[in-house]
Amino acid sequence: MLGIELWIKRDDLTGFAMGGNKGRKLEYIVADILASGADTVVTCGSSQSNFVRQLGAACAMHGLECHAVVMDLPRPDGTEPIGEPMAMGGNLLLDTYFRVRVHKVADGGWSELEAAAGSLAAQLAAEGKRVRIVPLGGSGPFGALAFWNAAHELQAQFEGRFDYVVTASSSGSTQTGLTCGFHGSATKVIGMSSDPEPEIADDMSAISHQLAAVHPLSPALSSEDFTFRLDWVGPGYGVASQAGNEALSLMATTEGIMLDPIYSAKAFAGLVAMAKAGELSGSVCFWHTGGTPVLFAYGEIAG
Ligand SMILES: Cc1ncc(COP(=O)(O)O)c(C=O)c1O
Repeated sequence: MLGIELWIKRDDLTGFAMGGNKGRKLEYIVADILASGADTVVTCGSSQSNFVRQLGAACAMHGLECHAVVMDLPRPDGTEPIGEPMAMGGNLLLDTYFRVRVHKVADGGWSELEAAAGSLAAQLAAEGKRVRIVPLGGSGPFGALAFWNAAHELQAQFEGRFDYVVTASSSGSTQTGLTCGFHGSATKVIGMSSDPEPEIADDMSAISHQLAAVHPLSPALSSEDFTFRLDWVGPGYGVASQAGNEALSLMATTEGIMLDPIYSAKAFAGLVAMAKAGELSGSVCFWHTGGTPVLFAYGEIAG
């Protein structure tokens, strides 16, 4: 039907705290936090953040206090909300099981959210806690290092070479690590953005430089080295799209595999559209980054 040989890398089944791409990142991020002697972690994200859920579990296991400053959906000053407020469900519900201290703030820009996390970290430090701030989505050098390794893991698992690896991309370290890991090979990595922000390609370049600093075998890349497609974002970050819902339904009804409406379904929608347009050929690996708990926060599928 798609004219390609389609494989799926099941990071949705990695198992840790209900799976997803963030488990790999946390192996390195949490080791770094523990080595620093911190006892408290502060991060930020959307209220349905998969990263907050998995970070919360990792912190709980290691006796770290985990705080997350969250907003429902990004909303620059003066603009109308692009979606409904989030009900308690999905990742927000799971956060309570992992004892994440969730600090809900009004919707705004990502940089305001990061500033709010910074203020909270300062306040906790003033109370005597040893605080580490973890960036949005775990997208720093260690998040990317995890996916540099994951690229090599995939290569070792597959006889031959993939022509394409397609992944959802948002805060950037998943795509950065994969792109650096496959750099110089015949495999092309395509990131399908969940955010309407082309400047994330610059962020990925910056992350690749950070990665090269901790792992000299990894190349420092420029933003042009990243194939970053914004065509399937739909109405905006955090809002389900028609094409994404169709892709979600296609995967569910043909393979019995669930995607999530915000990241993996939009990425798969992009893969399907590119394959149908003849922009993909040969062997294609769809990196299933997880996110399925979000299904239980978004209600029934439209259409
Ligand atoms: C399910 C899922 N897929 C993909 C991504 C994108 O990964 P990254 O933030 O490393 O770009 C995220 C991150 O938020 C996610 O939760």
